[in-house]
Amino acid sequence: MLHITTQRLVLKPHTSNSLNWLNTICNDPNEDYYNGDDPPKERPETLEETGKLLERILNRPSDADIIDYAIHKKDTDEMIGYGMIALISRYNKRCSLGIGLGWNRENWGQGIASETLQAVISYCFTELDLNRIEAEIYEFNERSIRLFEKQGFHRDGVRRQYIFKDGVFKDEYIYSLLREEWAKR
Ligand SMILES: CC(C)(COP(=O)(O)OP(=O)(O)OC[C@H]1O[C@@H](n2cnc3c(N)ncnc32)[C@H](O)[C@@H]1OP(=O)(O)O)[C@@H](O)C(=O)NCCC(=O)NCCS
Repeated sequence: MLHITTQRLVLKPHTSNSLNWLNTICNDPNEDYYNGDDPPKERPETLEETGKLLERILNRPSDADIIDYAIHKKDTDEMIGYGMIALISRYNKRCSLGIGLGWNRENWGQGIASETLQAVISYCFTELDLNRIEAEIYEFNERSIRLFEKQGFHRDGVRRQYIFKDGVFKDEYIYSLLREEWAKR
């Protein structure tokens, strides 16, 4: 079970208390824009629909190939973000990371995502004993590109015209960080 305390944050499993936060993020068009392949929603997602997603998250077996976590402020316990260690392949020792700080822009530009990522990367290489961590980032997601490059991620390649946004096809970058690169930092 992932439970990490950093200087300003606690990263921990979701509980039923995550429902409203997750419902709001699911209905944030910005989140879809930067983080989603699906077409824009025709109507807001209901609490019941988000509840089904949360139910699946809460009932995942401990050896599932995805670990979801909530990002909370250490001092107030307020939930301010979410993340996941996805596509975990224990045989190939790799995974793919996702992260989002939500709609409250006061939480952006504070180093919160960097602090989270640093801790999660360490967890992946030490606790999960993985060898390669991947991230897939749309070409226009400058904040995310900066975030992962600052942590030492290498741009492996480009999925050309991979997603359809704003009426045109856009590229997606594949980034990775290897255990040996992380160990040298
Ligand atoms: C991607 C995302 C998580 C990045 O958040 P962020 O706040 O930009 O990232 P960081 O936590 O690394 O913050 C970096 C900024 O904090 C500043 N900062 C302030 N205090 C800091 C500290 N103590 N430590 C590090 N940076 C700090 C940095 O200078 C940097 O400023 P800049 O934005 O002017 O360059 C956020 O934009 C987001 O939620 N986006 C929507 C979802 C999304 O795109 N997810 C990724 C999909 S691949």
